[in-house]
Amino acid sequence: MKELTLRPVSAAHECKILCAEGAFEKCLPELIKKYPEVFVFTDENVLRLYGDKIESVCRAPIFSMPAGEEHKNEETLFALLRAMKEAGLHRSSCLIAVGGGVVGDIGGLAASLYMRGIDCICVPTTLLSQTDSSVGGKTAIDFCGVKNLVGAFSLPKAVVADPTFLKTLPPREIRCGLGEIVKHGALCGELFDKLYANRENLTDLNFLSSIIFENIAFKAGITQKDERESGLRRCLNLGHTTGHALELADGKLSHGEYVLLGMLLEGRLAERETEVDPAYLDKLFKLCLAALGSLPDIKTEGAFGLAALDKKNTKGGEIAVVAPAKRGKYAELRLTLAKYEEGVKRALAEVYHA
Ligand SMILES: NC(=O)c1ccc[n+]([C@@H]2O[C@H](COP(=O)([O-])OP(=O)(O)OC[C@H]3O[C@@H](n4cnc5c(N)ncnc54)[C@H](O)[C@@H]3O)[C@@H](O)[C@H]2O)c1
Ligand SMILES: [Zn+2]
Repeated sequence: MKELTLRPVSAAHECKILCAEGAFEKCLPELIKKYPEVFVFTDENVLRLYGDKIESVCRAPIFSMPAGEEHKNEETLFALLRAMKEAGLHRSSCLIAVGGGVVGDIGGLAASLYMRGIDCICVPTTLLSQTDSSVGGKTAIDFCGVKNLVGAFSLPKAVVADPTFLKTLPPREIRCGLGEIVKHGALCGELFDKLYANRENLTDLNFLSSIIFENIAFKAGITQKDERESGLRRCLNLGHTTGHALELADGKLSHGEYVLLGMLLEGRLAERETEVDPAYLDKLFKLCLAALGSLPDIKTEGAFGLAALDKKNTKGGEIAVVAPAKRGKYAELRLTLAKYEEGVKRALAEVYHA
C-alpha cells in the first residue's frame, strides 16, 4: 500500500491518501468503522458496474445521481443533501463519494455543507479523479452556466485510490485523465521521463497503475504548499489557458484532450517568447501527440478571444499563460490579447500544417 498524509497549512484536519490495487476492499472497512452512520454517494454508471462491491464493502445506504457533468448542479446537490437528511445523518456521520470527479466534487461540497461539515471519504474511480481531482480539497458545482462557480475548499478525511476500478473505464475517459498526467509530467522531470519512455503504451492499465501514486504525490506536494491557489498552485494551469479556449470554441473532445492540445500550442508559443529547451519541447510535443493518438480536427474560430474572458487568465489586462519551457520547468508568460492570439494562431498553423 502506498500512502501519504496531506495537511495544507490552512486546513482544519489532515487527509490520508491510500493507493493500491484492491485498496477499496482492504482499507474502507477500517476507515469507516468508527462512524455510527455512513452514507454512499455515487453515479448511475458506477452503481451499475460496482453496486454489489460497494454494498458489500460499505454496508450503507447508497444514493446515486445521473452520470455526467450536466448534472453537476444545485439540483443534484440538494437532492443529495435531502437524501442525507432522510437517512438520518448526524454531525458524526461520514459521506463516502465513490465515482469520478463529478461525484467527488458534489459529494465533497455536500459533506462540507451538511450540518456545517461532516467527514467525507473519497473513492475516485476514473483516471482523472485518481490522479488529479480527488487531491487537494477543491469541491464545487456548476452554477448559472459557469463551471465550478459555487464551491468550497474542503479536504476529505481520506482518499482511497484503487486502480482496479479503471478496468471498466471507456478509452475516452482514459485519454481525459492522460491530459492532466502529461501536464504533471511537464511540471515534474522524473514523471516526464517515465511517460516519455512509455509513450507507445500510455493507455496500458499496468503502466497507468504504476504512476498513479506519483501523480497523487506530485499534486499533493503542490497543494500542501499552496492550498488556496495564491501562487505555486497556478502552475497546475499549464496548458489550460489555450486548452480551455479550445474547449469552449470546439467542445467535442474531452477536457484532457484540449489540455494536451493546449500544451502543444503553448510550447510553440513559449519558443518565441522566452528561453526554452527545444529538444525537450520536441519530446513533450511527441508525448502529447502520443497521448492524443492523432491530431484531432477542431474548430478554432473565436477561440482565443474566449481566453480573455476567463478571469483566471487575465492579469492587468494581459493573458497569463503557464507554458512548458524546459524539463520540469515552466514559464509564466503575460501577453497582450493581440500578441497571444497571433502567437497561438501561428502555433496552430505550424502544428497542423507541418
Ligand atoms: N476538484 C478538483 O480539484 C478538480 C480537478 C479537476 C477536475 N475536476 C472536476 O472533475 C470532473 C471531471 O471528472 P471525471 O473526468 O472523473 O468525470 P466524471 O465524474 O463525469 O466521470 C466520467 C464518466 O466515467 C464514468 N465512470 C466513473 N468511474 C467509472 C469506472 N470505474 N468505470 C466506468 N465508468 C466510470 C462516470 O459515470 C462518467 O460517465 C469535472 O467536473 C471537473 O470540474 C475537479
Ligand atoms: Zn484540467
